[in-house]
Amino acid sequence: MNEALENLKKRRSIRTYTDQPVAREVLEDIVDFGRLAATAMNDQPWEFVVVTDKAMLAKLPELTGHAQFIATSAACILVICKPTSHYLEDGSAASEHILIAAHAHGLGACWVAGEKEGYADSIRQLVGAPEGYRLICLIPVGYPAESPEIEKRTLQDVLHWEKY
Ligand SMILES: Cc1cc2nc3c(=O)[nH]c(=O)nc-3n(C[C@H](O)[C@H](O)[C@H](O)COP(=O)(O)O)c2cc1C
Repeated sequence: MNEALENLKKRRSIRTYTDQPVAREVLEDIVDFGRLAATAMNDQPWEFVVVTDKAMLAKLPELTGHAQFIATSAACILVICKPTSHYLEDGSAASEHILIAAHAHGLGACWVAGEKEGYADSIRQLVGAPEGYRLICLIPVGYPAESPEIEKRTLQDVLHWEKY
């Protein structure tokens, strides 16, 4: 199996990070992968805000009320979309690209819920995104300080040929 596919299989949500900073070029490259995701009618409704300021990183979980680990990440990438017809699918595709790209760079990352959460709009405002834009998720990244194992449903359980 090639390295890219291995990456997909080995990615896990990482919520504990070392203190090692992440180079700006690495963060740029990760966002670049988000930019290239599939998107309905090539709308590309996404914007990516990379937060590295420690005070801002601490403020984010104050607003979410959970995911305290955001405060200990090296950076938190906010995926924000213009409300197009398929913004949620597009933003989710971009977010998954970001998770995989972070993993490929040897980083740990975790999708933290944004869209549908009561705090989404306060985070949009905090980072100055335009009114009406939607926070899809927050993605804290950092060098991993854990390697969690989690249970996944088996292929046999989820795969249906021809009919359900
Ligand atoms: C839409 C969505 C919302 C999520 N929200 C959170 C969250 O708020 N906090 C968190 O710690 N993890 C969150 N996660 C990560 C999931 O808990 C994680 O992906 C799941 O347990 C599977 O683990 P894995 O990513 O290691 O495969 C979210 C994932 C998705 C796709």
